[in-house]
Amino acid sequence: MDKIVIKGGRKLKGSVRIGGAKNAVLPVMTACLLTRGVSVIRNVPNLADVMTMKAVLEGLGARISQRGRTIRVDTTSVEGHEAPYELVRTMRASAYVLGPLLASVGKARVSLPGGCAWGPRPVDLHIRAMHELGAKVEIDHGYIMATAGRLKGSTIRFSMPSVGATGNTMMAASRAKGKTVIANAAREPEITALADFLNRMGGKVRGAGTETIEIEGVDALSPAEVKVIPDRIEAGTYMIAGAITAGDIVVDNCVPEHVDAITRKLRQCGVTVETTRNRIHVKGSRKIQSVDVLTSPFPGFPTDMQAQYMALMTVARGVCVISETIFKDRFTHVPELRRLGADIKIEGNTAHVGYAGKLSGAPVMATDLRASAALVLAGLVAAGETHISRVYHIDRGYEAIEEKMSGLRADISRVPE
Ligand code: UD1
Repeated sequence: MDKIVIKGGRKLKGSVRIGGAKNAVLPVMTACLLTRGVSVIRNVPNLADVMTMKAVLEGLGARISQRGRTIRVDTTSVEGHEAPYELVRTMRASAYVLGPLLASVGKARVSLPGGCAWGPRPVDLHIRAMHELGAKVEIDHGYIMATAGRLKGSTIRFSMPSVGATGNTMMAASRAKGKTVIANAAREPEITALADFLNRMGGKVRGAGTETIEIEGVDALSPAEVKVIPDRIEAGTYMIAGAITAGDIVVDNCVPEHVDAITRKLRQCGVTVETTRNRIHVKGSRKIQSVDVLTSPFPGFPTDMQAQYMALMTVARGVCVISETIFKDRFTHVPELRRLGADIKIEGNTAHVGYAGKLSGAPVMATDLRASAALVLAGLVAAGETHISRVYHIDRGYEAIEEKMSGLRADISRVPE
């Protein structure tokens, strides 16, 4: 297993190019199951989670070829209907096959994902939505077993705006008979991107990006081509890398509106952030101010940036409160940040972060994807060497992080452990 070694203290400088969004490409890949034939997806990031989704689709009978950043998903021979535990347990997003399989094959057997490093992560909203669309759904030996004839449009009101359940429902409803209305839908850009792909396939999805999405079901969808949107969480992570090192960097090839909440927060902290059409210029300062943050669904501050923001707050002047409202216990990075000298106290879903002065390098362990990004960021400013083990977590969602950070003049390398 590899580890990442960082010698902290360098100000980052230069430009970094953002890749395609992990959370956008995964549902687009499963949406290909809604039709038979070859769909083409461009700007696909080179990530472990994309490899896992390829394995899920290949397990169902799809053929996938790749040239550079373009993949072709051929669903002509798809006959399977199962997403097995071995794959779902490494990537919850495998549950995105549920809606497309029900709509196209009429049955799906999808492993329950179980908990994750940050506590229970239920799929009740996905199950209820499929039920509302007319599927028979049972839980059997740790699997969701769902069967349906032609799904029927319905009105579905989510008790909370779940990204995964909104995506699954949009996909299933695209081939249902009649109209579906999703109320209290997730508004994340990845949902809008999925709706765009479904419409390119001949679907009729309106209102994505707002809290009410209307889907007029169609009899058949056709293969389509799409370019994956830039990854707003990767962009936000590099913005914080610029800020935390008092650096001067350009985050290139991103959508500034998608990271508005992060931009606003960084400006409040005293970071200079200027945006153009697809670039963000970040200039840090030696004196970052502490500012409270509360995670919330888009367009609020993303939970997927909470750990990285906390890394920044450990070196900011003052005390701040970071409240996690989306997931319980999403604080596995805290004990590791403390090993680097951070002053953090946890009370329920709230972290109180004090000014640590200077962090000092230490061996730490990546515990999940975004937690590991926070450790990289803290390592960039910690005195001496930080060794981060279990980097497979980072590789799930950050393409070549050590190369991109080195390109910004960070002293970072990947070494075999
Ligand atoms: C997606 C993202 C993940 C991000 C999260 C929140 C992907 C592949 N992953 O995850 O990176 O952190 O959105 O922005 O896009 N919930 C239920 N029942 C359900 C489903 C969700 O109670 O059936 C709850 C969750 O526990 C959580 C909230 O709804 O409290 C939001 O979760 P959700 O938006 O569904 O997250 P994911 O789609 O799993």
